[in-house]
Amino acid sequence: MALPNLWGLYNLRSSPFFQATLRQDTEVTPLSLFVGRERERQLLLTTIGGSRSSRQAVAGRPGIGKTTLVQAVKADALAAGYWTSAEIIPVTAEGSSEDLLGRLLSGAYDAVLASHPGAGGPAVETAQQLVRSFRLRGGGFNVSGLGFGAGGSRTEGGSTPPSALVLDGPRVLRDMLAYALGEGAAGVLLHLNNLENLSEADVRRAADLLRSIRDQVLLLDGLHLVVVGTTDAVRTVVQTHTQIRSVFSDPVVLEPLALSKVGQLLENRYEALHLDPSAPWRSPVEEAVVEQLYRLFRGDLRGMLKALEDGITALLGLTPPGGEAEPVGLDDLLLVLRTRNQRELQDQLGESGWERLAAWGEVDPASVQTQADLVELWNIKQPSVSQTLQQLIEAGAVEPLPRRGRDAIQYLLTGTARLAL
Ligand SMILES: Nc1ncnc2c1ncn2[C@@H]1O[C@H](COP(=O)(O)OP(=O)(O)OP(=O)(O)O)[C@@H](O)[C@H]1O
Ligand SMILES: [Mg+2]
Repeated sequence: MALPNLWGLYNLRSSPFFQATLRQDTEVTPLSLFVGRERERQLLLTTIGGSRSSRQAVAGRPGIGKTTLVQAVKADALAAGYWTSAEIIPVTAEGSSEDLLGRLLSGAYDAVLASHPGAGGPAVETAQQLVRSFRLRGGGFNVSGLGFGAGGSRTEGGSTPPSALVLDGPRVLRDMLAYALGEGAAGVLLHLNNLENLSEADVRRAADLLRSIRDQVLLLDGLHLVVVGTTDAVRTVVQTHTQIRSVFSDPVVLEPLALSKVGQLLENRYEALHLDPSAPWRSPVEEAVVEQLYRLFRGDLRGMLKALEDGITALLGLTPPGGEAEPVGLDDLLLVLRTRNQRELQDQLGESGWERLAAWGEVDPASVQTQADLVELWNIKQPSVSQTLQQLIEAGAVEPLPRRGRDAIQYLLTGTARLAL
């Protein structure tokens, strides 16, 4: 049963605050909604066009727009004659090199099929067989397009003997790239997503994985890779081994979109979701709300959109259906979000975790803390601090800032936590 459309109160077809990545292959979250990032978009595309194969990385804090930027670059590349698909290839450090090979081959296969409907012949058929058996064994894609977290299907434990994938994968990939180039493709562009939330050991493993396939796979003619991840994960994975660093360009690190661009992002969405054309759409929020959330979330668009969606949905639930509604104001929204986020975090963290969070908020919700600071603030030993931090990070209440040189890691409360406090 379809839920009544609360957003109709603002003459909108559905929620303008969805958190999914934009994609070239959907009408629900189309790339026509994309704003800004002109320089980064151009830089990534120019590097792809600059040689017969390329390897780049896009880094930045959670929710800042990394995945969506690469979706836009793929659309640009497609228009420039490259073969690619809107699929996102999840990379996790838990996988083996076999798993990574399988994902790359699957991705390349999808790109070929998506960009060249008549694709066929021995190279494509051989690839298809390997890709099929890889997917049957549980490897492959997270097709949700949500693009967050370490989502995606994972191969469950159990070791298998070296498979056809390990033995033949690199050659099959090479033949398929040669096929694409032969059919007139300028190259094949793959998007490896979400190198993040990894422990240091995991990141090292991911770096080792990449090195293990460097010569046979990463350097193949016609292959263009863009790896996406949080700043630290990307830096470690791409820069740990000289052999990998030397073949990757410097990571493109994303800064927050400017507030004016965020305003434009929202207007684009209202415009696209306009319900009844005989009347104008109305913004569901006052401008002050967007400004305030923008400051609290410091560029985390996903977090900000979720706060808007959750808060307004809760408020609209209280409004009688039909008719029109006023744009939501700051006080109302902050109040519902405080109650809501508080309850969620309390549930997730338990009493002591919540109290520690609250103590941090009392110092100053915008304060930056190191583990040493927290030992004092919480009056507990270092291992407990590190454990609590881990819990707070998993609950989305705390974010580690990218490491600066040899300094101790700094931690910050997320917008979600600040709304609760
Ligand atoms: N340049 C942009 N123009 C329009 N919308 C954008 C832009 N960048 C991001 N968005 C929107 O913001 C939200 C978050 O973007 P995205 O998923 O790309 O962030 P991310 O950095 O990949 O997040 P995560 O760290 O969770 O993977 C999405 O709903 C996306 O559609
Ligand atoms: Mg992402």
